[in-house]
Amino acid sequence: MSADDFIVTPWHVEGDIDYDKLIKKFGTERISSELLGRIRTVVGEDHFMLRRGIFFSHREMNRILDDYQKGQKFFLYTGRGPSGHTHIGHLVPWVFSKWLQEKFDTNMYFQLTDDEKFFSKSNLTLEETNKFAYENALDFIALGFKSNKTKIIINTKNIQTLYPIAAQVAKKINFSNTKATFGFTNETNIGMIFYTALQSAPCFIENKPVLIPLGVDQDPHFRLTRDIAPKIGKLKPALIHNIMIPALEGPGGKMSASDNNGTIYTTDSPNVVKKKINKHAFSGGQPDIEQHRKIGGNPDIDVAYQYLRIFFEPDDNKLKAIYEDYKSGKLLSGELKAILIEKINDFLSIHQEKREKAKDKIHEFLLENK
Ligand code: TRP
Repeated sequence: MSADDFIVTPWHVEGDIDYDKLIKKFGTERISSELLGRIRTVVGEDHFMLRRGIFFSHREMNRILDDYQKGQKFFLYTGRGPSGHTHIGHLVPWVFSKWLQEKFDTNMYFQLTDDEKFFSKSNLTLEETNKFAYENALDFIALGFKSNKTKIIINTKNIQTLYPIAAQVAKKINFSNTKATFGFTNETNIGMIFYTALQSAPCFIENKPVLIPLGVDQDPHFRLTRDIAPKIGKLKPALIHNIMIPALEGPGGKMSASDNNGTIYTTDSPNVVKKKINKHAFSGGQPDIEQHRKIGGNPDIDVAYQYLRIFFEPDDNKLKAIYEDYKSGKLLSGELKAILIEKINDFLSIHQEKREKAKDKIHEFLLENK
């Protein structure tokens, strides 16, 4: 891998991602200002994650909107591979999905792929990934989804529902397709080889168009789904992609649920959050105060600033002021981190309460096999 190169696959993200190149490579479309305007017109407002390019790319959003305006509703689908506790980066597509669900009044499905993480992580047992599935479900529910319109799918529990659809899909994907898409080798276990059929299955759980908000690393699965959809008489899933959320230690590489220090978990205490940010968050500031005052910081590579932009400061004016003050040297790196720490801890204190309450409600959300 050369210096300006990068890798983005569902199981491996590495390097400094050039999103323009990635759009070309994957064959997706950038969210244009026209599309943004159209969403604003249909919905009556937009979301800061759209305005700021956190959601930056899509496949067939225009068809979804065309159909919607003709009275054809769609449903939403996203998911999570339960390889560990939920970290704040995971919440990005979920929070955005919640907004879409409210604005378009849709059903929503959330898939927890305990099988996938068992197949892909040599150190995890199926019991562990299943336990994490329930833990992650609490974070999802805590965001305020309503159980009458939202169902959680746990692969090992809902296989009876998924399997007939997955079988349709699996018959149309051959080994050379998956191999080329994911870089499988002869050593890859066959659970992985079949898995994409299971991630495809919820796309066809209702006989309606589906829109999937997702991290762009998941796009390859749905490229395959889209290829085979017409062959099984189904509509292609439409997608809307978010950028990879940087790890605390810096740009290049997404937040990983298995790296303790590089990650802020939704269950972290205020003190742990403070320590992690102060110690590990990559700074775009200068080595000492004198230089920082003179030269200023670089918000574009500063992880504390990026977290504010991506999630924790929805107010554009406040964000802009922080950007300018940091760039001019008025705002120091430690002060910027303090702003973020407070924002995260405010968010988490409420989230953790709702997460506790979710324990009593989880059964309402779990999909029942028919
Ligand atoms: N494979 C995803 C992950 O590792 C989980 C997932 C399942 C998913 N279905 C999805 C993600 C649909 C986005 C959209 O996190």
